[in-house]
Amino acid sequence: MRKQKILVTGGAGFIGGNFVQFMVNKYPDYDIYNLDLLTYAGDLTKHREIENKPNYHFVKADIADRKSIMSLFEREKFDYVVHFAAESHVDRSITNPEIFVLTNVLGTQVLLDAAKENKITKFVHVSTDEVYGELDFNPTTFFTEETPLQPNSPYSASKASSDLLVRAYYETFQLPVNITRCSNNYGPYHFPEKLIPLTISRVVNDQKVPVYGDGKNIRDWLHVIDHCAAIDLVLHKGENGEVYNVGGHNERTNLEVVKAIINTLGKSKELIEFVEDRLGHDKRYAIDPTKLEKLGWKPSYNFETGIAQTIQWYLDNKDWWEQIISGEYKTYFEYQYSYIK
Ligand code: NAD
Ligand code: DAU
Repeated sequence: MRKQKILVTGGAGFIGGNFVQFMVNKYPDYDIYNLDLLTYAGDLTKHREIENKPNYHFVKADIADRKSIMSLFEREKFDYVVHFAAESHVDRSITNPEIFVLTNVLGTQVLLDAAKENKITKFVHVSTDEVYGELDFNPTTFFTEETPLQPNSPYSASKASSDLLVRAYYETFQLPVNITRCSNNYGPYHFPEKLIPLTISRVVNDQKVPVYGDGKNIRDWLHVIDHCAAIDLVLHKGENGEVYNVGGHNERTNLEVVKAIINTLGKSKELIEFVEDRLGHDKRYAIDPTKLEKLGWKPSYNFETGIAQTIQWYLDNKDWWEQIISGEYKTYFEYQYSYIK
């Protein structure tokens, strides 16, 4: 019998990379195709343990390159698409929004066309809670799937635009789609431009940690493996056309997160440096995951166990992140945080 073929876009990045490993190991009977352009955020060294497995395949391609995407789909006849590939960093979208539109909007539309032309069984679009905008600090308010889309950054606006295209392909062409909207992820292979890995890598080296504004903004943290399990569930059980929010009720202020990491590593709070706030900085995100829980999902990590495991992973895998922070990333850091010594 022919094996089911799953195309995972962005499988060399943080969440897509974890998802590829999760699927290759969990489903030897599926062929997993990792399609990635290998931008600054993508690397294949993370896949050393699976790269020789018979059910893992890699394709280097740009999702916005219609010709190569169309011919790939015609050749491989994928059954499923799980779409992670994106420009993902809010700060970069503030300095250079154009690539966010190209990759996140046009790239998604190209994939939708390819999926439609080739009559795939399911297209899962991995989106974000940031499309809902921000919440106030009232702890009883949450994002539900019915919350209106009110994105505030060029990044979240590009993701919201792609969500609307996915919805339109369901309504117009009956393409079997799902959209997942997850809260902030953390865990192994998180690129060190993002708050948690940035803090760990700098605190380990006794360097200052830049905290935007007063550090009171709130994010709702989910371990990346719990996100992978949620996507696996939606891929197999999601009802066509439905949106599923993903989050585990782990709200923390940025200052709480940074202090927890400093404490675990036994370093001084003096490392915290309050710096100029992010433009348009969303106050609070918090997910109501009831709909996904009803489908059968439950997170396995709470923040305390997850952050301890993640810090240990960064201590055990210095080679991976040191090679990143000593490369092209250095120029980005010097530009983004020119005031930090
Ligand atoms: P990431 O930046 O770590 O990885 C993105 C990957 O996409 C990289 O491997 C990169 O090379 C690839 N890519 C970029 N442009 C491409 C293109 N034109 N063609 C092919 N590949 C390309 O991102 P991440 O944090 O893993 O996020 C993955 C997805 O999950 C994104 O769609 C993001 O919006 C969404 N998401 C992220 C979070 C989070 O906390 N990180 C939370 C919710 C949703
Ligand atoms: O909510 C989901 C989103 O989470 C995803 O869609 C995005 O792809 C992902 O990057 C993430 O976005 P955030 O902007 O919330 O993540 P980031 O790690 O950049 O920032 C987390 C919080 O920490 C935010 O309030 C800004 C703050 N921050 C961030 C950096 C990089 C700082 O205070 N200092 C920093 O240097």
